[in-house]
Amino acid sequence: MKTITTVAELRGAVARKRLGGKRIGFVPTMGYLHNGHLALVEASRAECDVTVVSIFVNPTQFGPNEDLSVYPRDFPRDEKLCRDAGVEVLFAPDAKEVYPTQFQTFVEPGELANPLCGAFRPGHFRGVATVVSKLFNMVQPDVAFFGQKDYQQCAVARRMVADLNLPIEIVMVPTVREPDGLAMSSRNRYLNEEQRRRALAISRGLFAAEAEFRSGERDAEKLRAIARRHLEAVDLLQYLELVDGDTLKPAESSLGRPAALCVAAYVGSTRLIDNVILGPAPRQHARAG
Ligand code: PAJ
Repeated sequence: MKTITTVAELRGAVARKRLGGKRIGFVPTMGYLHNGHLALVEASRAECDVTVVSIFVNPTQFGPNEDLSVYPRDFPRDEKLCRDAGVEVLFAPDAKEVYPTQFQTFVEPGELANPLCGAFRPGHFRGVATVVSKLFNMVQPDVAFFGQKDYQQCAVARRMVADLNLPIEIVMVPTVREPDGLAMSSRNRYLNEEQRRRALAISRGLFAAEAEFRSGERDAEKLRAIARRHLEAVDLLQYLELVDGDTLKPAESSLGRPAALCVAAYVGSTRLIDNVILGPAPRQHARAG
């Protein structure tokens, strides 16, 4: 594995592989890697000849009162995990490499960025869309892998490649969970033991609604109410919404199309998100025109 910190060096390394006819897979991350990230690497290794992972804690997607300065980091550990997972290129630029002083051009996502997390994190998806498009231009992958845990992020990325005609396939990989159900997240490390236990309410609520859906319940309000009961254990429920799997608009009351039940909640001062897809997963693979 090659660890690379500059765009120029990255371009050279990937261009050589591409010229050799290799299919390039890309997994963008902010590091502090866990098995969720590694599932994306595995998916890339299964579909592509070369896997590029980026580690970059992107300042433009954090709000002024968010956790940018304390976001967990452990580069030596991440590097070893990538090497052991069979990653060929690890791209870990610093902030100046990605955002030079004169930087002023952003990618503005549309309506998909407004509901759910977008309503509580103004500018977040603008920062995500901007850095993801920059990383796409630097790596120029054939396929990019995103986790279902960040369902809205996947939707924004998919829309972006279609709208900007980026020749990149977006693959959504199912959420990887701890054995007890908690969705893996770099932010789980902020939780103390007691909070960690209460955080389980999130996946329990989602699973309860999913079980009712599987046994035939199609009433959106009822499904939401089932999840809400479990969510009483969290400190602040930011949103619990059942949305159309493609448009992210509120799902129809009788749930005729695939939908996503999405949660954001605070446990202590840690903000956690999770979701389940009700119905067949919508368009896991999407290729831009
Ligand atoms: P980060 O939170 O590090 O996540 C990187 C990728 O890992 C995202 O696609 C995310 O959805 C996926 N992921 C995280 N936890 C997961 C889990 N438990 N199961 C499956 N996949 C999981 O998301 C970001 O970074 C950033 O916004 C980024 C896309 C890198 C842009 O800065």
